[in-house]
Amino acid sequence: EKGGYEHFMLKEIFEQPKSIHDTMRGRLLVDEGVIKMAGIWDHVERFKNANRIIIIACGTSWHAGLIGEYLIEEFARVPVEVEYASEFRYRNPIITDKDVVIAISQSGETADTMAALKLAKEKGAFIYGICNVVDSSIARITDAGSYTHAGPEIGVASTKAFTAQLTILSLIALKLGKHNGNLGNADFMRLIAELNAIPKKIEEVLEATHELTQNIAKDFINATNFLYLGRGYNYPAALEGALKLKEISYIHAEGYPAAEMKHGPIALIDENMPIVIIAPKKGHYDKIVSNVQEIKARKGKVIAVVNKGDKQVSAMADYVIEIPETSECFSPIVASVPLQLLAYYIAVYRGANVDQPRNLAKSVTVE
Ligand code: F6R
Repeated sequence: EKGGYEHFMLKEIFEQPKSIHDTMRGRLLVDEGVIKMAGIWDHVERFKNANRIIIIACGTSWHAGLIGEYLIEEFARVPVEVEYASEFRYRNPIITDKDVVIAISQSGETADTMAALKLAKEKGAFIYGICNVVDSSIARITDAGSYTHAGPEIGVASTKAFTAQLTILSLIALKLGKHNGNLGNADFMRLIAELNAIPKKIEEVLEATHELTQNIAKDFINATNFLYLGRGYNYPAALEGALKLKEISYIHAEGYPAAEMKHGPIALIDENMPIVIIAPKKGHYDKIVSNVQEIKARKGKVIAVVNKGDKQVSAMADYVIEIPETSECFSPIVASVPLQLLAYYIAVYRGANVDQPRNLAKSVTVE
């Protein structure tokens, strides 16, 4: 059942070219220049006229939500907030029938997310679901939604469900942006072609980084801390990279927006601190170059995720992971893949049970 892979997690990482393709199938029609999503289209005026969109989720799905905020605000120009379901439900949030709530949940059974939705529903908000498990509790309570179609995710650490969530959020943002008139036809066509090319690029990444991440992992099996840094769209990707590492390897890891480094975490940097930095060419590259200079001045060990042919960051980094270029807004989908592999191999070399990490459950049905 693991298809020849040692763990479900590795199998699911490798399934991503296919799972992302499945998520787009029947929705992204590149030749016709159309994104078909009945759940969005049937309620498109609700989305367009929403006071704001509130995205509610937990864990990895919450990280997808943060990227969703960047996507929807950039392309659809509708204000978005992202909240942890557990915080939202207990803070007496201001919510009205002009709000649209998007719930993101792989399992569709997360207790906090479910409770937050019930509350939002009581207040009259329109509820949209992005779930992976068909007919799950969250999918059933929503007014409309889009399934991610990533296929069953067995490994406790979410991988292919995360990239499928990002795919759906991209489709939603582009569709709304086109409809709202904020995204011109030429840009829309360019972006959908780019999104359509993501499965192929992930295939390339898997091929190019599978061995490399194993070699890097071997050097860090005794690390006690890791920092993950990224800016813009890749700030949430840094959070997700850190979560993957901590949950399966039990190494403490924190993700930060790269510029926040100087507001605290820089105090931790010395020759024993590995720092994973996501630095694609499009996306505040020059700022990241100076962040890397600051890290190297303090002898931190830099593992850089950069685009092919990169020079400046690569020249300073201790380890370089090259990924193909894509639009900034899709770069977290591509950049997340080597970070999943890195976390996986560090955990495997430490002898951890990656598919069933201690204390964790695949679906958290109690609060
Ligand atoms: C991390 C992970 C968890 C889940 C979280 C939400 O790898 O799997 O953080 O993302 O428990 O779960 P769902 O998406 O099922 O609501």
